[in-house]
Amino acid sequence: MTDLTLDTAPPPPALADLMARLDRSCRTGTRELGAETGSVPASHYTDRVHWQNEQDSLFAHWPIVAAHSAEVAPGSALPFDALGVPIVVTRSIEGRARAFFNVCRHRGMALVTTKGSAPPKATPCKALVCPYHGWTYELDGRLRHRLHAETFDGIDPATLNLVELPCDEAGGLIFVKRTPGPPFSAATFLQGLDAHLQWLGLADMKVFRKVDHVYRANWKLTADAFLEGYHIRVLHRDTIYPFFADAMAVNLRAGPHQDSLVARRTALEGFEPPRDRSALCKVATPTQFLFPNSFLIWHPDYVSLIGMFSPAPDEVRWVHTMLIPPDRTGDDWHAHWEKTFNLIEKTVFQQEDIATAVGIQKGLLSGANTGLVAGRLESDVLRFHRGVDAAIGGTLKPAGD
Ligand code: FES
Ligand SMILES: [Fe+2]
Repeated sequence: MTDLTLDTAPPPPALADLMARLDRSCRTGTRELGAETGSVPASHYTDRVHWQNEQDSLFAHWPIVAAHSAEVAPGSALPFDALGVPIVVTRSIEGRARAFFNVCRHRGMALVTTKGSAPPKATPCKALVCPYHGWTYELDGRLRHRLHAETFDGIDPATLNLVELPCDEAGGLIFVKRTPGPPFSAATFLQGLDAHLQWLGLADMKVFRKVDHVYRANWKLTADAFLEGYHIRVLHRDTIYPFFADAMAVNLRAGPHQDSLVARRTALEGFEPPRDRSALCKVATPTQFLFPNSFLIWHPDYVSLIGMFSPAPDEVRWVHTMLIPPDRTGDDWHAHWEKTFNLIEKTVFQQEDIATAVGIQKGLLSGANTGLVAGRLESDVLRFHRGVDAAIGGTLKPAGD
């Protein structure tokens, strides 16, 4: 197996600094600890008013990752409904990604429909044609054609373009807001992390598999599990812990987002400053948390993009997209990725992380805990919840708005 040919430009300074901190931690055997301990009120995982406030502030007004860039090829349209309203993401032949309500302006039919229970894939198309009466829209949302247009006399077609939603792309991700409004800058929103994603090569990755399931746990319980490495030694003892150092990670904060390097065991033997993604992922697992609900986890040779959506207070809609390097998409790689997918999604995520969240959700209803306690290896969990509360309270707004 040969190493990928990657960009060997030096890493962005903030990422280089993070690598140096991890190296120092591993060489000295010293963990970087958070500044605080605390607890999260149990009601924040169960209360319907709290959930509604999250919907109205976070999920309605923050840029949310709708897809990896490779999911929407030029001249195609991808339905996206995880935010609770029907949305369609299009990409013009020229390459511009846009989002609209997936709702025909005639009598409201969905323009791009999904069949079966598998996560939808983008449909190649030159235009969006409504399956009900055939109204046709350009991929930029303009109404192009109405069957028997003369029978709509008195109705100005200029008022019947698709309703556009704010949408922008950066670092290999397409971000959408579910509420119409002014445009935003995804690069500004990422507060510097777009440079990290560029260096890691996210935009070049290809989709191997996507899963979309609902589980009985509040979405923040699954997020909590990806914001601390304290649990790896016990919960993942027989699966991934053999590859990781015990609770050894460094984090940098980029506004409400963060980038972390979680040390693998190989890091304890010391490492040269990694010159590319391949070298970095041998010694650490880079993990970006994009507030409020997305994670990127850089396994040694593939990436998990995970969105955690919130259809109900006690439900998480888990959307996991497994991304693989562009030079490993051939048939000869299929069995390898299939095995890898089963290990990470079905065993590590479903049977360990998600099953734990489901168990906690049940326990919360018992009233045994009025809050969930976090120590100094888990202070990013507390920071995440402070961010949610600040967004609900209106004191935290997305950068780039
Ligand atoms: S509802 Fe779309 S054309 Fe009639
Ligand atoms: Fe985990």
